[in-house]
Amino acid sequence: MVNQEKKLRDGACISPWQLAGKDLVSHSTDQKKHETFDTIIIGGGITGLTTALLLQQCGKKCIVVETKTIGFGTTGGTSAHLNTFFDATYADIESDFGKEESKLVAKAGKEAMAMIKKLATDLAIDCDLAVKDGYLFAQDEKQVEELSKILAASKRAGIEVTETAEICVPIPFQSAIIFTGQGQFHPIEYIQKLAVAFIDLGGVISENTFVNEVEKKGDLYHATTPNQVFTGSKLVYATHAVPGVNAFSFKCAPYRSYVLGVTLKDDHYPEDLAYDMMEPYHYFRSHEIDGQSYLIVGGEDHKTGQGDPTQAFESLETYIKQYFNVKEVAFKWSSQYYIPTDGLPYIGPSPALADAYVATGFNGNGMMFGTLSAMIISDDILNKKNDYAALFSPSRIKPLAGLGEFIQENANVAWHFISDRFKTEEIAKLKDIPNDTGQVVEFEGEKLAVYKGPRGKVTALSPVCTHAGCIVNFNPEEKTWDCPCHGGRYDIEGNVISGPPLRKLARYK
Ligand code: FES
Repeated sequence: MVNQEKKLRDGACISPWQLAGKDLVSHSTDQKKHETFDTIIIGGGITGLTTALLLQQCGKKCIVVETKTIGFGTTGGTSAHLNTFFDATYADIESDFGKEESKLVAKAGKEAMAMIKKLATDLAIDCDLAVKDGYLFAQDEKQVEELSKILAASKRAGIEVTETAEICVPIPFQSAIIFTGQGQFHPIEYIQKLAVAFIDLGGVISENTFVNEVEKKGDLYHATTPNQVFTGSKLVYATHAVPGVNAFSFKCAPYRSYVLGVTLKDDHYPEDLAYDMMEPYHYFRSHEIDGQSYLIVGGEDHKTGQGDPTQAFESLETYIKQYFNVKEVAFKWSSQYYIPTDGLPYIGPSPALADAYVATGFNGNGMMFGTLSAMIISDDILNKKNDYAALFSPSRIKPLAGLGEFIQENANVAWHFISDRFKTEEIAKLKDIPNDTGQVVEFEGEKLAVYKGPRGKVTALSPVCTHAGCIVNFNPEEKTWDCPCHGGRYDIEGNVISGPPLRKLARYK
């Protein structure tokens, strides 16, 4: 493994975007914190920073409040594919939303892509932004049939796509299609420069600031943090999960995806982007960092808190070694994303809170939908018409699309809420737990989430998630406590690092 000293992500594993030597610049600015802002944006990933910049460019006064440092969450763990086709295929969107809506999604994807290119060009951002082709390939009869539907529906939506006899990865396939005009970039280089441009325009970023309460008093939102209260007319949750128990706790399911960054013995790094059609699918691309090329491969996704992260990494490594001449696994990391029950993200005004906005359910297309969210939300705040606002509206009612997934998802949550309470192992002594391991145990009549450090130091927490009471599970790779119900995640001290919980896990002495 390469020297990895920076740990500025929401877990112990490190993504290549945070290589040692490429320090994330702190953008906290202390001045101006006492003024009233036009917009408070919670979350310093691509969604929050793009929204902040677009608003600040139009003369609004904004503050970005980030729990840790910018890019700490999903933006720091993305594999950074830029696509105009999405995890919800155009065939699915056509059947669930309609042909015109499918065209609108395609147009929205192209506009988001154009926005990333424009910002990178206007701000002269050196983020390795590159235009690539994207290959989608089928490996059995069922997938061949599905792929031909995707090809036809993508063309009808107005996407540039054709059949191809060759793909950019050495993996057997039966049929394949090629989407032109796709892309990739370095996500942290990109958002860091967005942050600098935002600050240059007078914007404020408050890092290491956890918002533990939001209240609307009169016309103003009050966002309370441990040290101060920020006030603003509008509020944007650029946090994926919307804090608290609300409709989005039931309409979006949290998943983790696993990624490896490997070097190859033969230098046959794919020049473009590739995707298989397995369930869950694998994704491939290459990136050169500090003169070293890496093959970046992801997949083995599972619901947060419900799979085996160690097994997922092992399966991914075994899988790529079948097809690539792997020299070294230089990076391995995982990242969280949210699947919306009806297939499309929820972006725009909150159905429950006046003058507040949400952006969630991006599936595996966070860089694109994060950028699109910024465009839709900033247009609404600036009273500009946006062609995509109605389609992605969080208040949309699609009684049939995704209904099955909605029921299945919430049955899964209910099952975990009840069953996880009964499967705790009773132990006589805490020393029975191996070092550098976490486990939910029953000890002297109490249920405990116990982490034992590399030298045997024990941290005992309540395993009851402070969001809605499910029992957390230990993630041995990222060294976090992950909740299987709505994706709340806590560090080994019990502090909230992502998801909807607002309070840390209770600590036992
Ligand atoms: Fe909802 Fe844990 S995140 S109960």
